Amino acid sequence: MTAVLTTACATAPIARVSGCDLQVPLVGGGTCVYANFDYAASAPALAQVTDRVQELLPFYASVHRGAGYASRVSTEAYESARGSVERFVDTDDDQVVVFTRNTTDSLNLLATCVPGDVVVLDIEHHANFLPWKNSRVVEAADTVAETIRRIVAELSVKPAALLAITGASNVTGEVLPIAELAEIAHRCGARILVDGAQLTPHRRVSLSESGVDYLAFSGHKLYAPFGAGVLVGRRDWLDAAEPYLAGGGAVREVTVDETFWAPAPARHEAGSPNVLGVAALAAACDALSALDFDTVVEHERVLSTRLAEGLGEIEGVQLLRLWSDAPDSVGIVTFTIDGYEPGQIAAYLSAEHGIGVRDGRFCAHPLLNRIGHAGGAVRASLGLGTGSDDVERLIAAVRQLVAGEQTWNYGKTDGLWNPVPETRGFSSTIDGAAECV
Ligand SMILES: Cc1ncc(COP(=O)(O)O)c(C=O)c1O
Repeated sequence: MTAVLTTACATAPIARVSGCDLQVPLVGGGTCVYANFDYAASAPALAQVTDRVQELLPFYASVHRGAGYASRVSTEAYESARGSVERFVDTDDDQVVVFTRNTTDSLNLLATCVPGDVVVLDIEHHANFLPWKNSRVVEAADTVAETIRRIVAELSVKPAALLAITGASNVTGEVLPIAELAEIAHRCGARILVDGAQLTPHRRVSLSESGVDYLAFSGHKLYAPFGAGVLVGRRDWLDAAEPYLAGGGAVREVTVDETFWAPAPARHEAGSPNVLGVAALAAACDALSALDFDTVVEHERVLSTRLAEGLGEIEGVQLLRLWSDAPDSVGIVTFTIDGYEPGQIAAYLSAEHGIGVRDGRFCAHPLLNRIGHAGGAVRASLGLGTGSDDVERLIAAVRQLVAGEQTWNYGKTDGLWNPVPETRGFSSTIDGAAECV
């Protein structure tokens, strides 16, 4: 494992993830262990996920289409994965699991099924903003309480079919009270879709307890980076809609003149499915279901509080927040530094310290524009494989930058910041690169 813990009360990673001992080159020469602060973009694979993919790979074959033994194993892996998802998000009886490519795909699919208007906030990731055809946008306020009052007002003034809302902001990590929002949506005659891309990897989500009608999430953010996603939700809209993709597997019967479509999930899963991605996603669901989420929440709380405090003490650092009263936050700390462009900071952290963060506008342009950060920010996001030593490294690196102790030059080409000169090669076969899973 990565961790050489620095103090007696240091927080260790709580799960083994791929790349946890990855050596990456530094621009001044030599290598160091990669510090991954980009979990919110794509999380590394859990050991159980890697094991499951390796176990299934020899049996990789067509799904739903073959009598051969390997096909039967692949079909069983694919279909039983629905049960793993159902247990993970605690579905109700009338909810069905549809496998997709990712959250974006899931939301685009649901957008073809909604029989009416969709109410959204202006803080959403573009994936939960752009697909909706008849959307009505509510501007988030600077408290959750006032934001909810605005949602109630919008849903009351004119009926809507769906409230489509994020479970946790991909920009700040702040969490919304989804059970309360579900109750409000239902009271106003609407259903609720939760964009769970950032929430499901970090918090226990129970559809039956919260009353949420639809949930979308991505395997690659759930420690299963193998290209599968989920839309889970109430069957009636899914069965009434036109198939998302027309093609093999989505039908009961086809004649030259007529097509009889299958019900969901097959209706919306035409074509050969991503059996390895789905099995990986199911393995992640099983592994996360087995974790004690109180421990996960506490691990994240300790690390992200320390990170926010450590960065917040550095001159010129500003932390981004949406709300003063958010009930909870997942492990995301987003910041700017006066006098530095986000891309410059990210390039420096990577080149001189082997630290990976995300910079930019996080596919949430309306939000960044409204809160006065149209130039973007730096997002440090953490998860099960993060430890205190990673957090201390990031804080120390930012402190050095602000103290003027950077050792390399940086320049912008085609809008992207890079070290000048760039001395690193970008090959996955560099000397010393090794993974511990
Ligand atoms: C909140 C949120 N929704 C949706 C998405 C889109 O996810 P994907 O790229 O897996 O479709 C993301 C990705 O960053 C996200 O953070």
